[in-house]
Amino acid sequence: MKTLIAPSILSADFTRLNDECTAVLNAGADWLHVDVMDGHFVPNITIGLPVVKSLRAAFPQAFLDVHIMISDPDFYAAKFVEAGADLVSFHPEATPHTHKVIQSIHEAGGKASLAINPSTPLDCIDYVVEDLDMILLMSVNPGFGGQSFIPSTLRKLRDLRERLSKLGRPDLDVQVDGGISPSNIREVQDAGANVFVAGSAIFKSEDYATTIEQMRAQLSA
Ligand code: DX5
Ligand code: ZN
Repeated sequence: MKTLIAPSILSADFTRLNDECTAVLNAGADWLHVDVMDGHFVPNITIGLPVVKSLRAAFPQAFLDVHIMISDPDFYAAKFVEAGADLVSFHPEATPHTHKVIQSIHEAGGKASLAINPSTPLDCIDYVVEDLDMILLMSVNPGFGGQSFIPSTLRKLRDLRERLSKLGRPDLDVQVDGGISPSNIREVQDAGANVFVAGSAIFKSEDYATTIEQMRAQLSA
């Protein structure tokens, strides 16, 4: 499967966001991962629709991978596509209408993904899997960058790949988000992920290109 590296701009210097995004794209980032938090679904407030709109205008070619950790994705998910998101990951824990939110993202012209918290069972994908463009497994509790990778994610990833095979979607993209670095990216890939979010490992490093290269060097083809 193709592997993709998606730096999370949550760990970028927000006062220089344009420069930071330019730098990380020039350093070889495949996607820009944009963490939207509302202070309600998660205990932190980050950025929202206007920033996504500005990023779309400033980086027309970039793939904007927008992760909304917010209550009421029913109302907001499509708005993020309209603002410029290529893909929107939302949390099924935040809505009783998962299928409807997926539909709303597609109707707006975006790709749809379910972002699943560490303690959330995988059966939430069973009856929407045919409509999904990706699954995001959280490997930390959402809310903050710089947390440690939760080890049970590896077991969950293996279970997810097995489940996806049974459900007829063995090749669906699986993204892992939280605590990813050059030192654990390979075991995360071996467990079943192919899209890797990394915030602090990249943005807190001296040289973004070197860190991204170190990550790619660990991955098997
Ligand atoms: C956590 C966010 C992640 C986070 C990743 O709530 O969804 O995308 O920024 O940051 P690191 O790589 O530092 O764990
Ligand atoms: Zn994220």
